[in-house]
Amino acid sequence: MRIAIAPTEAEGTAIAARVLMERFEQGKALGVATGSTPLGLYEKLREAHAAGEFTLSGSSAYALDEYIGIDADHPERYRNVLATELVGEDKTGLKDEDLYTPDGLADDPAQAAADYEEAIAPGVDLQILGIGSDGHIGFNEPGGSLASRTHIGVLTEQTRTDNARFFDNDIDKVPTHCLTQGLATIMGAKKLLLLAFGEKKAEAMKQVIEGPVSAFWPGTILQHHPDVTIVLDEAAAGKLQLADYYKAIWDSWNK
Ligand code: F6R
Repeated sequence: MRIAIAPTEAEGTAIAARVLMERFEQGKALGVATGSTPLGLYEKLREAHAAGEFTLSGSSAYALDEYIGIDADHPERYRNVLATELVGEDKTGLKDEDLYTPDGLADDPAQAAADYEEAIAPGVDLQILGIGSDGHIGFNEPGGSLASRTHIGVLTEQTRTDNARFFDNDIDKVPTHCLTQGLATIMGAKKLLLLAFGEKKAEAMKQVIEGPVSAFWPGTILQHHPDVTIVLDEAAAGKLQLADYYKAIWDSWNK
Protein backbone atom coordinates (compact mmCIF):
# COMPACT_ATOMS: atom_id res chain seq x y z
CA MET A 1 0.00 0.00 0.00
CA ARG A 2 1.17 3.52 -0.75
CA ILE A 3 -0.12 5.78 1.99
CA ALA A 4 -0.22 9.56 1.79
CA ILE A 5 -1.11 11.49 4.94
CA ALA A 6 -1.90 15.10 4.16
CA PRO A 7 -2.37 17.85 6.75
CA THR A 8 -5.86 18.68 5.46
CA GLU A 9 -8.62 17.25 3.28
CA ALA A 10 -7.92 19.92 0.64
CA GLU A 11 -4.26 18.88 0.41
CA GLY A 12 -5.25 15.21 0.37
CA THR A 13 -7.68 15.88 -2.47
CA ALA A 14 -4.93 17.61 -4.46
CA ILE A 15 -2.65 14.58 -3.96
CA ALA A 16 -5.44 12.21 -5.05
CA ALA A 17 -6.08 14.28 -8.19
CA ARG A 18 -2.38 14.19 -9.06
CA VAL A 19 -2.21 10.42 -8.53
CA LEU A 20 -5.32 9.85 -10.65
CA MET A 21 -4.15 12.04 -13.52
CA GLU A 22 -0.72 10.40 -13.53
CA ARG A 23 -1.94 6.85 -13.21
CA PHE A 24 -5.30 6.53 -14.98
CA GLU A 25 -4.83 5.49 -18.59
CA GLN A 26 -7.03 7.80 -20.62
CA GLY A 27 -9.46 5.96 -22.88
CA LYS A 28 -9.85 3.17 -20.35
CA ALA A 29 -12.52 2.50 -17.73
CA LEU A 30 -12.52 4.56 -14.53
CA GLY A 31 -14.33 3.25 -11.45
CA VAL A 32 -16.12 6.11 -9.71
CA ALA A 33 -17.40 6.40 -6.15
CA THR A 34 -20.18 8.60 -4.82
CA GLY A 35 -20.67 10.02 -1.32
CA SER A 36 -19.08 13.26 -0.20
CA THR A 37 -15.43 12.17 -0.10
CA PRO A 38 -14.62 12.26 -3.85
CA LEU A 39 -16.50 15.50 -4.60
CA GLY A 40 -13.36 17.64 -4.26
CA LEU A 41 -11.50 15.24 -6.51
CA TYR A 42 -14.22 15.53 -9.17
CA GLU A 43 -13.96 19.31 -8.92
CA LYS A 44 -10.21 19.04 -9.60
CA LEU A 45 -10.88 16.80 -12.60
CA ARG A 46 -13.35 19.37 -13.99
CA GLU A 47 -10.75 22.13 -13.51
CA ALA A 48 -8.10 20.04 -15.23
CA HIS A 49 -10.51 19.33 -18.08
CA ALA A 50 -11.24 23.05 -18.47
CA ALA A 51 -7.49 23.71 -18.53
CA GLY A 52 -7.03 21.07 -21.24
CA GLU A 53 -4.90 18.88 -18.96
CA PHE A 54 -7.26 15.92 -18.54
CA THR A 55 -10.28 14.40 -20.19
CA LEU A 56 -12.65 11.49 -19.75
CA SER A 57 -13.70 11.84 -23.37
CA GLY A 58 -13.19 8.41 -24.89
CA SER A 59 -13.13 6.77 -21.44
CA SER A 60 -15.96 4.96 -19.70
CA ALA A 61 -16.91 5.28 -16.04
CA TYR A 62 -18.44 2.62 -13.80
CA ALA A 63 -20.21 3.38 -10.55
CA LEU A 64 -19.52 1.33 -7.44
CA ASP A 65 -23.14 1.06 -6.45
CA GLU A 66 -26.71 2.33 -6.72
CA TYR A 67 -29.70 2.51 -4.42
CA ILE A 68 -32.54 0.15 -5.25
CA GLY A 69 -35.92 1.73 -5.83
CA ILE A 70 -34.85 5.37 -5.66
CA ASP A 71 -36.85 7.63 -8.02
CA ALA A 72 -35.31 8.03 -11.47
CA ASP A 73 -35.03 11.79 -11.06
CA HIS A 74 -33.98 11.82 -7.38
CA PRO A 75 -30.84 13.98 -7.03
CA GLU A 76 -29.27 11.31 -4.76
CA ARG A 77 -29.73 8.53 -7.28
CA TYR A 78 -26.07 7.74 -7.91
CA ARG A 79 -26.49 7.83 -11.68
CA ASN A 80 -27.74 11.41 -11.33
CA VAL A 81 -25.00 12.38 -8.86
CA LEU A 82 -22.28 11.08 -11.18
CA ALA A 83 -23.84 12.65 -14.26
CA THR A 84 -23.97 16.01 -12.48
CA GLU A 85 -20.34 15.72 -11.39
CA LEU A 86 -18.73 14.27 -14.49
CA VAL A 87 -20.83 14.14 -17.67
CA GLY A 88 -20.52 16.71 -20.43
CA GLU A 89 -17.93 18.82 -22.21
CA ASP A 90 -18.35 21.45 -19.50
CA LYS A 91 -17.47 18.83 -16.84
CA THR A 92 -14.87 16.16 -17.61
CA GLY A 93 -15.75 15.26 -21.21
CA LEU A 94 -17.39 11.96 -20.14
CA LYS A 95 -20.35 11.08 -22.35
CA ASP A 96 -23.64 10.00 -20.75
CA GLU A 97 -23.65 6.76 -22.76
CA ASP A 98 -20.22 5.95 -21.34
CA LEU A 99 -21.42 6.22 -17.72
CA TYR A 100 -22.45 2.80 -16.37
CA THR A 101 -24.40 2.38 -13.14
CA PRO A 102 -26.18 -0.66 -11.75
CA ASP A 103 -29.88 -0.48 -12.65
CA GLY A 104 -31.54 0.17 -9.31
CA LEU A 105 -34.92 0.48 -11.03
CA ALA A 106 -34.86 -2.96 -12.68
CA ASP A 107 -37.81 -5.28 -12.07
CA ASP A 108 -35.29 -8.03 -11.44
CA PRO A 109 -32.45 -6.56 -9.34
CA ALA A 110 -30.58 -9.90 -9.16
CA GLN A 111 -30.44 -9.97 -12.95
CA ALA A 112 -29.38 -6.30 -12.97
CA ALA A 113 -26.50 -7.24 -10.66
CA ALA A 114 -25.42 -10.06 -12.97
CA ASP A 115 -25.67 -7.76 -15.99
CA TYR A 116 -23.53 -5.13 -14.28
CA GLU A 117 -20.90 -7.69 -13.35
CA GLU A 118 -20.74 -8.73 -16.99
CA ALA A 119 -20.53 -5.12 -18.20
CA ILE A 120 -17.63 -4.26 -15.90
CA ALA A 121 -15.55 -7.36 -16.75
CA PRO A 122 -12.58 -7.72 -16.89
CA GLY A 123 -12.35 -4.80 -14.45
CA VAL A 124 -11.61 -1.09 -14.55
CA ASP A 125 -8.17 0.47 -14.95
CA LEU A 126 -8.41 2.55 -11.79
CA GLN A 127 -11.11 2.45 -9.12
CA ILE A 128 -11.74 5.44 -6.86
CA LEU A 129 -12.98 4.42 -3.40
CA GLY A 130 -14.33 6.09 -0.30
CA ILE A 131 -14.98 4.16 2.89
CA GLY A 132 -17.85 4.00 5.34
CA SER A 133 -17.32 4.55 9.06
CA ASP A 134 -18.14 0.83 9.45
CA GLY A 135 -15.42 -0.09 6.94
CA HIS A 136 -17.64 -0.71 3.91
CA ILE A 137 -16.27 -0.15 0.42
CA GLY A 138 -18.86 0.09 -2.28
CA PHE A 139 -21.84 -0.93 -0.16
CA ASN A 140 -20.17 -4.13 1.02
CA GLU A 141 -21.22 -4.05 4.62
CA PRO A 142 -19.62 -6.00 7.51
CA GLY A 143 -20.11 -9.75 7.41
CA GLY A 144 -20.40 -10.12 3.63
CA SER A 145 -18.30 -12.44 1.55
CA LEU A 146 -14.75 -11.27 0.81
CA ALA A 147 -15.16 -12.97 -2.60
CA SER A 148 -18.48 -11.36 -3.58
CA ARG A 149 -19.41 -10.14 -7.05
CA THR A 150 -22.01 -7.47 -7.86
CA HIS A 151 -25.04 -8.25 -5.74
CA ILE A 152 -28.06 -6.91 -3.88
CA GLY A 153 -26.94 -5.43 -0.57
CA VAL A 154 -28.78 -4.44 2.59
CA LEU A 155 -27.56 -1.19 4.13
CA THR A 156 -26.68 -1.23 7.82
CA GLU A 157 -28.40 1.10 10.25
CA GLN A 158 -25.01 2.84 10.61
CA THR A 159 -24.73 3.53 6.87
CA ARG A 160 -28.33 4.72 6.64
CA THR A 161 -27.70 7.03 9.60
CA ASP A 162 -24.48 8.31 7.98
CA ASN A 163 -26.27 8.90 4.66
CA ALA A 164 -29.38 10.53 6.14
CA ARG A 165 -27.60 13.87 5.58
CA PHE A 166 -28.28 13.43 1.86
CA PHE A 167 -31.99 12.73 2.56
CA ASP A 168 -33.21 15.71 4.61
CA ASN A 169 -31.59 14.15 7.72
CA ASP A 170 -34.43 11.62 7.71
CA ILE A 171 -33.21 8.01 7.99
CA ASP A 172 -36.63 6.79 6.84
CA LYS A 173 -35.99 8.38 3.46
CA VAL A 174 -32.69 6.52 3.00
CA PRO A 175 -33.20 3.42 0.84
CA THR A 176 -32.69 0.10 2.61
CA HIS A 177 -31.28 -1.88 -0.33
CA CYS A 178 -28.71 -1.33 -3.03
CA LEU A 179 -26.86 -2.94 -5.89
CA THR A 180 -23.14 -2.92 -5.27
CA GLN A 181 -19.99 -4.14 -6.90
CA GLY A 182 -18.78 -7.01 -4.76
CA LEU A 183 -15.42 -7.07 -3.03
CA ALA A 184 -14.00 -9.39 -5.70
CA THR A 185 -15.32 -7.04 -8.39
CA ILE A 186 -13.53 -4.12 -6.74
CA MET A 187 -10.38 -6.21 -6.34
CA GLY A 188 -10.50 -6.81 -10.12
CA ALA A 189 -9.53 -3.19 -10.78
CA LYS A 190 -5.91 -2.82 -11.87
CA LYS A 191 -5.31 0.08 -9.49
CA LEU A 192 -7.20 1.31 -6.46
CA LEU A 193 -7.26 4.84 -5.06
CA LEU A 194 -8.92 5.10 -1.64
CA LEU A 195 -9.64 8.47 -0.06
CA ALA A 196 -10.65 8.94 3.58
CA PHE A 197 -10.99 12.22 5.43
CA GLY A 198 -12.10 13.10 8.93
CA GLU A 199 -12.02 11.54 12.37
CA LYS A 200 -15.13 9.43 11.65
CA LYS A 201 -13.02 7.31 9.29
CA ALA A 202 -10.06 6.84 11.66
CA GLU A 203 -11.08 3.46 13.10
CA ALA A 204 -11.95 2.04 9.67
CA MET A 205 -8.59 3.20 8.29
CA LYS A 206 -6.71 1.71 11.22
CA GLN A 207 -8.36 -1.61 10.42
CA VAL A 208 -7.78 -1.32 6.65
CA ILE A 209 -4.09 -0.53 7.00
CA GLU A 210 -3.02 -2.22 10.22
CA GLY A 211 -5.78 -4.64 11.18
CA PRO A 212 -6.25 -8.30 10.27
CA VAL A 213 -8.13 -9.03 7.04
CA SER A 214 -11.68 -9.70 8.10
CA ALA A 215 -15.22 -9.64 6.72
CA PHE A 216 -16.09 -7.54 9.77
CA TRP A 217 -14.07 -4.67 8.23
CA PRO A 218 -14.66 -5.22 4.49
CA GLY A 219 -12.07 -2.63 3.39
CA THR A 220 -9.32 -4.79 4.90
CA ILE A 221 -9.50 -6.95 1.75
CA LEU A 222 -7.46 -4.21 0.06
CA GLN A 223 -4.39 -5.59 1.85
CA HIS A 224 -4.50 -8.33 -0.78
CA HIS A 225 -4.43 -5.94 -3.75
CA PRO A 226 -1.02 -5.29 -5.33
CA ASP A 227 -1.62 -1.65 -6.34
CA VAL A 228 -3.42 0.46 -3.75
CA THR A 229 -2.88 4.14 -3.03
CA ILE A 230 -4.53 5.50 0.10
CA VAL A 231 -4.87 9.22 0.71
CA LEU A 232 -5.81 10.37 4.22
CA ASP A 233 -5.92 13.58 6.14
CA GLU A 234 -4.40 13.75 9.63
CA ALA A 235 -7.80 13.13 11.24
CA ALA A 236 -8.45 9.90 9.33
CA ALA A 237 -4.86 8.82 10.05
CA GLY A 238 -5.28 9.60 13.75
CA LYS A 239 -5.34 5.98 14.93
CA LEU A 240 -2.48 4.62 12.81
CA GLN A 241 0.35 3.20 14.85
CA LEU A 242 2.97 3.66 12.13
CA ALA A 243 1.82 6.99 10.66
CA ASP A 244 5.30 8.54 10.81
CA TYR A 245 6.77 5.56 8.97
CA TYR A 246 4.14 5.77 6.19
CA LYS A 247 4.86 9.48 5.83
CA ALA A 248 8.59 8.82 5.54
CA ILE A 249 8.00 6.22 2.82
CA TRP A 250 5.66 8.52 0.88
CA ASP A 251 8.17 11.39 1.13
CA SER A 252 11.04 9.20 -0.01
CA TRP A 253 9.13 8.27 -3.20
CA ASN A 254 7.71 11.71 -3.88
CA LYS A 255 10.70 14.03 -3.57
C1 F6R B 1 -20.12 5.37 -2.60
C2 F6R B 1 -19.77 4.21 -1.81
C3 F6R B 1 -19.51 4.28 -0.35
C4 F6R B 1 -18.93 5.60 0.14
C5 F6R B 1 -18.86 5.58 1.65
C6 F6R B 1 -18.30 6.87 2.21
O1 F6R B 1 -20.29 5.00 -3.97
O2 F6R B 1 -19.71 3.17 -2.37
O3 F6R B 1 -18.62 3.23 -0.02
O4 F6R B 1 -17.66 5.78 -0.42
O5 F6R B 1 -20.14 5.37 2.17
O6 F6R B 1 -19.20 7.91 1.98
P1 F6R B 1 -18.77 9.41 2.24
O7 F6R B 1 -17.73 9.75 1.25
O8 F6R B 1 -20.04 10.20 2.01
O9 F6R B 1 -18.28 9.48 3.64
